[in-house]
Amino acid sequence: MTNRVIVASSILSSDFSKLGEEVRAVDAAGADWIHLDVMDGHYVPNITFGPPVVTALRPHTLKPFDCHLMIEPCDPYLEAFARAGADHITVHAEATTHLDRSLQEIRALGKKAGVALNPATPESAIEYVLDRLDLILVMTVNPGFGGQAFIPAMLDKVARVKRLIGERKIDIEVDGGAAPDTAPLLTRAGANVLVAGSAVFKGGPKAYAANIAAIRAAA
Ligand code: DX5
Ligand code: ZN
Repeated sequence: MTNRVIVASSILSSDFSKLGEEVRAVDAAGADWIHLDVMDGHYVPNITFGPPVVTALRPHTLKPFDCHLMIEPCDPYLEAFARAGADHITVHAEATTHLDRSLQEIRALGKKAGVALNPATPESAIEYVLDRLDLILVMTVNPGFGGQAFIPAMLDKVARVKRLIGERKIDIEVDGGAAPDTAPLLTRAGANVLVAGSAVFKGGPKAYAANIAAIRAAA
């Protein structure tokens, strides 16, 4: 965890026909982390990609791969994502029956452990696993799609999560609708990692550096 705001670029909004190039482009444009949204068409109403795509992208950047698993169950796939080159593995609190076990396994695989909370899930759901966490991802939209409007009620939740973690070194990541207009609200509430998909990838590769800089400057 650092004081500087981390921009995690979500390739969900990139051109899927040239993912390797897109990852290299956002890396060069200043993205801190590459955010990989894994969706199974069951836990969320959309399907994206799995471990083979993560493996294929791994040689394209040295930046951390921030894997956001929107899959249920998640436990059978944790090892595959770890082997594929994920650095952070975030599971949904709602998508695993034994959250504590899932988080233990992620750390046992040598990866940073994250938990994601849907807008409707109270932060009390993770009170008992705080010491197993490197990262808390607060969904600021309903998971499944890029380009949705940010849910303002999530600002108070981010602030409550911040109070909950106290002095622990846990990153607070927000995911959904982050852009130059919402970034200052999110960081003021306590977030230090902003996931951004559409706000980074809009305008094509020539715009990525300016898009990331605008988010960072606003935050
Ligand atoms: C949504 C994903 C997000 C998504 C954010 O389920 O978890 O990471 O890419 O997209 P934007 O930044 O466009 O809201
Ligand atoms: Zn995400």
